[in-house]
Amino acid sequence: MFTLVVTNRKGGTAKTTTAVNLAAEFAKQGQRCLLIDLDNQGHSAIGLGIEPLTPDSQPQSILANGRQSLNRLLHETRYENLFFIPAGQVSEKQTLQTERLHNFLARKQLAHHFDLVVIDTPPNAGIEQTAALMSADAVVIPFLPSPLGKAGVQHLIDDMKTIPAKNNRKHIPFGLIPIMLDPRVNLDNRILSEMISMHGTEKILRGVRRNVTLAEAFDAGQPVNVFAARSRGAFDYHMLAEDIAGLWPKLLPKQNPLSFRKTAEIKALNKPAILPEPQSHRGIRLKDKCAQWNG
Ligand SMILES: Nc1ncnc2c1ncn2[C@@H]1O[C@H](COP(=O)(O)OP(=O)(O)O)[C@@H](O)[C@H]1O
Ligand SMILES: [Mg+2]
Repeated sequence: MFTLVVTNRKGGTAKTTTAVNLAAEFAKQGQRCLLIDLDNQGHSAIGLGIEPLTPDSQPQSILANGRQSLNRLLHETRYENLFFIPAGQVSEKQTLQTERLHNFLARKQLAHHFDLVVIDTPPNAGIEQTAALMSADAVVIPFLPSPLGKAGVQHLIDDMKTIPAKNNRKHIPFGLIPIMLDPRVNLDNRILSEMISMHGTEKILRGVRRNVTLAEAFDAGQPVNVFAARSRGAFDYHMLAEDIAGLWPKLLPKQNPLSFRKTAEIKALNKPAILPEPQSHRGIRLKDKCAQWNG
């Protein structure tokens, strides 16, 4: 099992969009994939069309105490190979502990059931982010090309050096994803070249262009590769997934044909998903046709 953490301490940098769409992309490719939301805002659930946890369903929150059984937390999604653990609030009586949450994320049971775990994190430094980073095989940091975005990424990378990396490695491997970078804007280009000289070209992953279809897909509760498979957003996340798999080949260790036994085991584990009625598919946006993909 490979654990990919999506993080940045700023809000609105497309962490959740990236976590949902990368998880959906790898699931589409046949990886048994689990998306874990550690942000108590619960946005990943919305992006998958799953009702976020209510105060009554708090015991099902991974943030509640970190000791729950997997079958209490796991949700099936409407998408093949894609499973989900929603976040939830931590009540005043509970204290979230890094070690407990990290132990949950490091459970052998997860490795038994899944090829890939993608973790979405809150927009701040804290227990959830630290526990996620301690469990990470690799981290991707989506960032907006602005001076503050650049400074925030630098802080995060500096702090990551103080967090114990999995498997006694010296540092946690990471990649940076430029989000909504516009090559016609001088400032965007300058920020990108500064990031390249600070971190090296190999750390800069394929970016995701501005594409309103990504927001529309989120609103419809669908990954973009389902909502509008031929959109620019779907193309960019498809290419980004390829880039990530190229950078960390262990992410796709073996393309085994899907084990039906394992899929059945996972299905037996989880309780019925809280899914609203399927929303209408808004179809393919013709204006997002292939010709624009290379723009
Ligand atoms: N490439 C993109 N093009 C256009 N809008 C985007 C793109 N990526 C994300 N968004 C939108 O930006 C907003 C913030 O994204 P989100 O993934 O929620 O960020 P975060 O999880 O970092 O707070 C959302 O409304 C989302 O739909
Ligand atoms: Mg988010």
